[in-house]
Amino acid sequence: MRPRSGTSSRDASVEYSGASRPGFPELARAAVCAVMTAAALSAEPTAGQTRTVWDGVYTEAQAERGREHYRAICGHCHRDDLSGGGSEAGAPALRGPFFLNQWRDRPLVDLFVTVGTTMPQQDPDSLRAQVVIDVVSYLLRQNDMPAGAAELPPRLDPLRNIVLSRPPGR
Ligand code: HEC
Repeated sequence: MRPRSGTSSRDASVEYSGASRPGFPELARAAVCAVMTAAALSAEPTAGQTRTVWDGVYTEAQAERGREHYRAICGHCHRDDLSGGGSEAGAPALRGPFFLNQWRDRPLVDLFVTVGTTMPQQDPDSLRAQVVIDVVSYLLRQNDMPAGAAELPPRLDPLRNIVLSRPPGR
């Protein structure tokens, strides 16, 4: 019997090489390790370059693209206003206290990988990484996190250093 886990040495050797391989399925294989690393790191915040979602980490144009994808792909389950409850399985709200508590103090890479590998629920692991990150930027906007000058990149490493922290001063 061979265990069919995603942690064989062959899978672990898959490297995500940025723009040349934009598909999420490739990224997801590499991300299994990344999530574990990110989880380990999030217990002990890395010094230096860490930013938070309150620093303006996506652009308005990116969130607009994300909104269109969201409405086409996610809205019928999570509702166009992100209030949740649109699927029989009870899709959760993607804005407000539930969402913020769920992701609080975790690196953005966790949300990126979770959406990319588990959503849309009826066809997980099917979205391009660029689509996923655009939708993530839309989720940030709908949770009142500000837009900034640069887009969120569809890559794991930079997303490890952005934390979904509480609003500053709270
Ligand atoms: C067919 C219905 C359906 C569609 C379409 C769908 N989801 Fe979901 N989603 C669910 C259900 C049900 C859950 C809760 C169970 C789970 O986590 O698998 C969920 C869970 C989630 C979670 C975890 C919630 C949390 O905070 O723990 C996120 C994030 C999410 N969905 C985002 C999305 C995004 C973004 C899209 C579009 C790309 C999408 N979903 C499409 C049904 C759906």
